[in-house]
Parts: sequence; C-alpha cells; structure tokens
Amino acid sequence: MVELGVNIDHVATVRQARRTTEPDPVWAAMLAQLGGADGITLHLREDRRHIQDRDLRVLRETVTVKLNLELACNAEIVTMACQTKPDQATLVPEKREEITTEGGLDLLVNRARVAEAILKLRGSGISISMFLDPDPRQIDAAAALKADAVELHTGEYALSLGEDNQAAELAKLVQAAKHVRSKGLLLHAGHGLTYRNVKPIAAIEGMSELNIGHSIVARAIMVGFEQAVREMKKLIS
Ligand code: PXP
Repeated sequence: MVELGVNIDHVATVRQARRTTEPDPVWAAMLAQLGGADGITLHLREDRRHIQDRDLRVLRETVTVKLNLELACNAEIVTMACQTKPDQATLVPEKREEITTEGGLDLLVNRARVAEAILKLRGSGISISMFLDPDPRQIDAAAALKADAVELHTGEYALSLGEDNQAAELAKLVQAAKHVRSKGLLLHAGHGLTYRNVKPIAAIEGMSELNIGHSIVARAIMVGFEQAVREMKKLIS
C-alpha cells in the first residue's frame, strides 16, 4: 500500500498572511486523518514563514498517524525535533529566499552536517528520511549514512512539459527508485504532485509513501479538507 502523508504547511501559510489564529493547521490535520491520511507532514522552517513552534508541539500531542517533520540540518530545529520527537524526520535543504524547497539535499557537499543531525535525531528514536534528487551518487551517500528512507524529489517530473519530457523524468525516477530499494531503503516521493500527475509515481514498484501538500490544500479550499484527502487517497491506492 502507498501511504499518503498530507503536508499541511499551506494551511499555516494562510494563517500567517494575517498573523492570526485561523485557519489552524491542527484542525486541518484532524480532517486529513478523517479523510484517510496515513501521515501528517510539516516543515518547520528557520524563518517560520508558515508552521510555528506551537504547531509542532500541538500536532505531536494530537496526531495519531505518522508525524513527519521536514527540517534542514539547522542546530536549533534539530534540537526542537529531538525534544518533540516526531515519528520521522525528513532532511531537506533550505534557503531563505526560496519559495519552496528547491532541489534535493546535496549529501556529497553537506555530509558532515547531515551526519551530525542524524546522530542527534536517531538518539531521540526518530526515523530518518532524506529528500534527494534521483541521482545514484546521492542515494549511495544516503545508504552510507544509514538513512531509513529516501524521498525522491518529484519536482522536475511535476514541472516537465510535454509527454516526452515527462516520460524522461519518470524514467529517471523509476531508475532511482530501483536503486533506493536495492540499498534496502524505504522508498518515498514528493514535491509538486497533483491529482493529475500522481498516478505514475504511486505506481512505481516499491513506493511506500507520498508526501503531498500544495495540491491537496488548493483543492481543500474548494471541496473541504476531508474530501480533498479522500480523493487523493483513492488515486494513489
Ligand atoms: N516533500 C518535501 C520534502 C517537501 O519539502 C515538500 C514541500 O514542503 C513536499 C514533499 C510537498 O510538496 P508539495 O507542496 O508541492 O506537494
């Protein structure tokens, strides 16, 4: 079964647009669970542009499915993760000026920082996923660092225009997925997935978790959170 992790960051984005208390991502997480979400995903960014420290704390107390925290290898955030203990930490690169996460983590350049973060997170009993481009060198590095899972970055696939380009990006992901599985790591994917493009990704052999945010939140504005999650869950099953 392919599990659906619902990323609720953009519920917090709307709240932060007015620095008020609504809409509450905690409420959205509850509705996502009612709609069949297997996990709730959130990204606590250094600049706190959407998810706030309070959200992480309250979600840890209330979410009963897998809680997946996306975080950069930043000492303050890693410490907060160790204290809050999400079920899974997904390590991502982070730049202040970006609109959303651009590209996977570069384990060839940042190996020492990532190794240090892993040591702390593991010490708190948190399982480790790494957000990587579909690049065999990065996957080998994740295996050497003893990650539990690799989340393949589907952004290039999602942005590709035309059938041929999309097929080429999908082929890269299928190859990378085989590589991830051959290293004995769990296979996750995410970024830019929508109701239109998700099926071929969900069908990749060995796929165990998809993390999807923007498209679900966008649909939820129109049809409600529970129904938006239910529709996505049906598509990936
Ligand atoms: N996976 C990772 C690692 C991400 O950083 C994000 C965006 O926060 C997502 C999945 C979800 O991407 P989207 O919002 O485009 O569905």
